[in-house]
Amino acid sequence: MDVYEAIRTRQSIRRYKPDPVPDDVLSKVLDAMRLAPSAGNLQPWRFIVVKDAAVREQLAKATDRQEWIAHAPVIIAACGWEERAYSKMGGYWNALPVDVSIAFDHLTLAAAAEGLGTCWIGSFIEDGVRRVLAIPQEVRVIALTPLGYPDEPLVPKTRKELTEIVCYERWE
Ligand SMILES: Cc1cc2nc3c(=O)[nH]c(=O)nc-3n(C[C@H](O)[C@H](O)[C@H](O)COP(=O)(O)O)c2cc1C
Repeated sequence: MDVYEAIRTRQSIRRYKPDPVPDDVLSKVLDAMRLAPSAGNLQPWRFIVVKDAAVREQLAKATDRQEWIAHAPVIIAACGWEERAYSKMGGYWNALPVDVSIAFDHLTLAAAAEGLGTCWIGSFIEDGVRRVLAIPQEVRVIALTPLGYPDEPLVPKTRKELTEIVCYERWE
């Protein structure tokens, strides 16, 4: 599958088959994540792969109404250190969320290429996730995703047209 097809076929998956993700496939998608760029190549991230069913249940409870994520065979938490990230993006902002998001996007696209589903989860409770996964206080939790084989069909994407979101040469 080429990158365009992976982009087209990636969609947020909220129903998963119980089938486990083979370790070699998991390693492949994690490696795609590892190869992501980051500001200054600082790689200020750490990712926690959770397979244990009891921990998945606890993680699901550390979300705002996203309990369904427990049904995926794997949940990955994307974390990082603000103080280890480039702190002056555009002269004013810390790169941690964008660095970690790029890496997680690599993961979601690689997962799609492997026939796996993911769903970016922003509705989590950071301190709850910290408690469940023993994440130190100075580490930020940026996102979660379930990972597993989809149990729902592909649906057409609803997106704004290019003409609405792109302009040329100057803002207008
Ligand atoms: C930053 C971010 C946070 C999101 N948080 C959630 C979430 O908490 N729960 C959920 O079910 N989907 C969540 N989504 C998934 C979006 O709803 C989804 O990507 C969007 O509707 C487009 O659909 P698609 O991913 O199938 O193309 C999130 C997506 C992003 C990018």
